[in-house]
Amino acid sequence: MNLAEARKEIEALRKALHYHNYRYYVLDDPEIPDAEYDRMMRRLMELETRFPELVTPDSPSQRVGAPPLEAFETVSHDVPMLSLANGFDDGEIREFDRRVHRMLKTDAAIDYVGEPKMDGLAIEVRYEKGLLTLGATRGDGFTGEDVTANIRTIGAIPLRLRSDELPVPERLDARGEVFMPIEGFRKLNEQRKKEGQPLFSNPRNAAAGSLRQLDSRITATRPLDIYFYGIGIVEGMTFTTHWEILKTLPKFGLKTNPHARLCHGIEEAIAYYHDLLEKRDDFPYEMDGIVIKVNELALQRELGEVSRSPRWAIAYKFPASQEMTRIEDIIVQVGRTGVLTPVAVMKPVEVEGAVVSRATLHNQDEIERKDIRVGDWVIIQRAGGVIPEVVRVVLSKRPPDVKRFEFPKTCPVCGSPVVRLPGEASHRCMGISCPAQLKAKIRHFASKRAMDIDGLGQKLVDQLVDKGLVKNFADLYRLNLEQLAGLERMGEKSAQNLLEEIEKSKATTLPRFLYALGIPLVGEHLAQVLAEHFGGLEALMSADEETLTQINEIGPQVARSIRTFFDTQENREVIRRLRDAGVRWEAPAASHDLPLAGEVFVFTGALPDMTRDEAKAIVERLGGQTANQISRKVTRVVAGEKAGSKLEKAKALGIRILTPEQFNSIIREHMRER
Ligand code: IVH
Repeated sequence: MNLAEARKEIEALRKALHYHNYRYYVLDDPEIPDAEYDRMMRRLMELETRFPELVTPDSPSQRVGAPPLEAFETVSHDVPMLSLANGFDDGEIREFDRRVHRMLKTDAAIDYVGEPKMDGLAIEVRYEKGLLTLGATRGDGFTGEDVTANIRTIGAIPLRLRSDELPVPERLDARGEVFMPIEGFRKLNEQRKKEGQPLFSNPRNAAAGSLRQLDSRITATRPLDIYFYGIGIVEGMTFTTHWEILKTLPKFGLKTNPHARLCHGIEEAIAYYHDLLEKRDDFPYEMDGIVIKVNELALQRELGEVSRSPRWAIAYKFPASQEMTRIEDIIVQVGRTGVLTPVAVMKPVEVEGAVVSRATLHNQDEIERKDIRVGDWVIIQRAGGVIPEVVRVVLSKRPPDVKRFEFPKTCPVCGSPVVRLPGEASHRCMGISCPAQLKAKIRHFASKRAMDIDGLGQKLVDQLVDKGLVKNFADLYRLNLEQLAGLERMGEKSAQNLLEEIEKSKATTLPRFLYALGIPLVGEHLAQVLAEHFGGLEALMSADEETLTQINEIGPQVARSIRTFFDTQENREVIRRLRDAGVRWEAPAASHDLPLAGEVFVFTGALPDMTRDEAKAIVERLGGQTANQISRKVTRVVAGEKAGSKLEKAKALGIRILTPEQFNSIIREHMRER
């Protein structure tokens, strides 16, 4: 083969390859199978190797990359590459439209072009007499990097403009977004994983990393694509609308997004946004919103720009953008109401401009549903652009040794038991004095409809808890004048008043007391129901779940909550201390006609047949009251073996003493009656 023959064949091959490239990349409609294309390409490269003098820079063979660079040259953009202002809801877009109208002093509907906002990186390519001569990144908008060698490896970017429909202009600077389709990104990461290389966290990073490779031979292996969306300097051709630009560029082989839409008036642009948002997941590439641009170029010029973004365009962002990061820990926080919330602690990552390092995992079910484990890589997003959430685990990146998350059985703050009530999604700390809940609990305890301690407001509670003076309800009744007077904004007089209020609160009612305890799910009404049913605290405290559920209005959830509450040692202890401090109530009216109405029992020493709590419960069931200390109000003392000082005191006061056997026969008799 001689030079002339080679030139002829080479030219024919190039022409065919350019054409098929265009069919493949720009029209997305290949005419021949890939194998045939590859065969032609191999033949071209073979001839070019044999006749190196025939190699031209626009040959389709010149996409394989060039030897690595030391560094990129910088390129200054003749027309700055601006950025866009963002809008996040319809209102902000309408506001943009109003501004446009105001500045153009017109009431007539404006034509806008809506385009997908591709999530990649912006570049500019220069064609001189149809030949690709420069490719540059946006950089800071004024100067970018010369990535020509890399740009040349991207199949969708023609090395020479097509000229079959229109004469090519003298110079054409075209701008677009280079991106990596999701499927290509997935495959690339899969391959990198096999090779033990670090993975790209998302398609945009992968695209940017690929394009900014000093070794363009690497870029050549990356599945990059582009949509053009604008122009810079153009010589030898003029446009009057943006739409015209979008329709013309493909004629040169520069593809524009086929989903762009011409919209008459802003409402159509808004409808376009919602349409695209809905279909967003069906696209083979990532978009982070749409761009809305004033169509008339003359109007664009009139509007101009401010602080590096044009007044004639706005990006209408999609709600949440996603990032990938790693779960470093799952901690459990205890809220003011005792609800435990698992929170993912993540390697900090920027999502839509904000650094995210924590996300609520809501509850156990949510963690199990998404199977989130410490050590996992996860996709996170800011829902509605604000609250970060874990979307899903990237299972393909799960390290082999990660363990399923176990929900704690005790409160991480106070160590009390944690229960998940039937039918509830969340776990709760049952601790009556849990520091995480203490301030709220004390505020509730002291509130008007509970213990009604007037003057014990939020600021005071904060101080009492912060200074460590109050660690549980019972501590309130141990406060003294000196302690209170030492608090901020507390004179001696008001301290005295508060002490009197605290003292007054001791005389309460059982429903109020139950409500004040803040048993989860037991509000004012149920407190009333329980008080009426049991007549006394001991009976309630010793009732099992089954007994509880037999009461009208008490379901299994509430029963479980009550049971766990009273089974918690710390809670019983606080209740005991409250009663020792003198918190008391009259027996409910309903129990007046019960056999032990008006009697106040104190137990001392051992009871052979039952526990003291059981004995107290029985007394209350029969309408009596119980106390822990001997006082003049006590009417009977049951003294078992090893009875102590209480017995002596009772004798001294002349209170009637019963043996356990006598007590048994009294209750046997009355229980039979009932
Ligand atoms: S127009 C002056 N159109 O978004 C107008 N930009 O925040 C400048 N982008 O740097 C850009 N898709 O990287 C435009 N259809 C589109 C776009 C788009 C993605 C990116 C581009 C630009 C950034 C602006």
